[in-house]
Amino acid sequence: MHTPAPPASLLLALRPRTQERLYDFYDELRSAADLFWDRRLDAWVATGHAVVSSAAGDPRLSSVRYPDIEAVSEELRPLARVLSRQMLYSDAPDHSRLRALLSKAFTPRAVAVLREKISGAVEQIITHAAPTGRMDIVADLARPLPLTIICDLLGVPEQDRDTLSSWSGPIAAAIGSSRLDADDNRAASQSMTHTLAYLRALLTRQDTPPPPHTLRALLTAHTENTDQDFDELLANCALLLIAGHETTTHFIGNAALALLRHPDAADQLRSRPELIPAAVEELLRYDSPVQLMLRRARHELELAGRTVAAGQVVLLLCGAANRDPAAFPDPDVLDFQRPGGRHVAFGYGPHFCLGAALARLEGAIVLEALLTRLPALRLEEAPLQWQRSLNFRGLTRLDVAFTPPSVNHDSGTLTMATHRRPAGLGHASSST
Ligand code: HEM
Repeated sequence: MHTPAPPASLLLALRPRTQERLYDFYDELRSAADLFWDRRLDAWVATGHAVVSSAAGDPRLSSVRYPDIEAVSEELRPLARVLSRQMLYSDAPDHSRLRALLSKAFTPRAVAVLREKISGAVEQIITHAAPTGRMDIVADLARPLPLTIICDLLGVPEQDRDTLSSWSGPIAAAIGSSRLDADDNRAASQSMTHTLAYLRALLTRQDTPPPPHTLRALLTAHTENTDQDFDELLANCALLLIAGHETTTHFIGNAALALLRHPDAADQLRSRPELIPAAVEELLRYDSPVQLMLRRARHELELAGRTVAAGQVVLLLCGAANRDPAAFPDPDVLDFQRPGGRHVAFGYGPHFCLGAALARLEGAIVLEALLTRLPALRLEEAPLQWQRSLNFRGLTRLDVAFTPPSVNHDSGTLTMATHRRPAGLGHASSST
């Protein structure tokens, strides 16, 4: 009888040449097993959609990332202590309590209020870039936009945002890789300490009242009326700050790349803008910004026919689940009218992404702007470089060119040039 070869380690996904063909690599892993033991990572890896979605909400699996803080390296320990207080890495009842508190800031209604701010911020970025005819979508749009919005939501003044963002990078790197050296871990811990000190000063400042409708206003009211543990609150604000922008940044970059590589799909969206919400979902499925979720077995259990020992880690590969042919026919096709199928890009179960409504709204507004405001948008000839992370998938830069608006000398106003191929998204001369 033919025995399938043992699957390769997920760590191979970090090789630059695998990153470019990541989903072929996942196919190889999934065809070997929908759940396998990865000896190099010392963890189970789930690749199939059925096992990933059921395990994400399985109460036999815990979300606690560091069950024994003292076992964590000295450099990483300060960061691990803070992460351990965040809802993402907690189980009920702490998880439910924290989620109930912070979810008030993320109801679809609360998020809809942000629509105008998001549109205004996108407009400003595009107007600034338009005369040049060139843009790095990652640096110019995908990084600043989600940061602006999450900082607006938290009530962070504009002048402090770049500093906060510079702390978030090392923390995201530490969360996204298990193979960082002591210096990286120390930098991540220090960045978290700075972030918390900043948030503490922000939430306790008396000189200015919190801007209305911000999370700062909500939390100030809450802490005044309850005996809420303030450090726990700060840890969760830090979670929002990091989760609220690193992920959406990657989403915008990955979605723009997918559209640039599929000009027909872009044309379809331009002629049928009512498909944009469906396109947001399909783009999240197609190249998911968060590639994996972490769980830990509370006790020995059976999962997908395998025995998982108490305490063992199970990595749920959302990126692979979202390309599973058993859940999505022709999974490698970008199809905005794909029937059924539920992607797991925002996770599944009790930890389902709290910021999903916000991320969807930002995505929809950006897509519309890219399609309508930057005529003849095309990829520049440049090799693509992906961030080195198993957790997050995102480009380090995405250089594009487009036709700049021309000056209408009669009226003295700026107008968009007209084109034989109206506002086409496509390739300049790229082989990507
Ligand atoms: C496209 C962008 C985003 C993606 C792909 C994404 C993805 C995810 C995923 C996969 C999870 C579940 C993790 C798990 O179960 O282990 C999650 C949870 C979470 N996300 Fe997002 N996220 C995005 C944007 C945001 C934004 C904008 C915010 C906040 C402003 C946010 C805040 C959170 C929080 C607080 C949790 C933890 C929820 C809980 O533990 O109950 N996310 N996200």
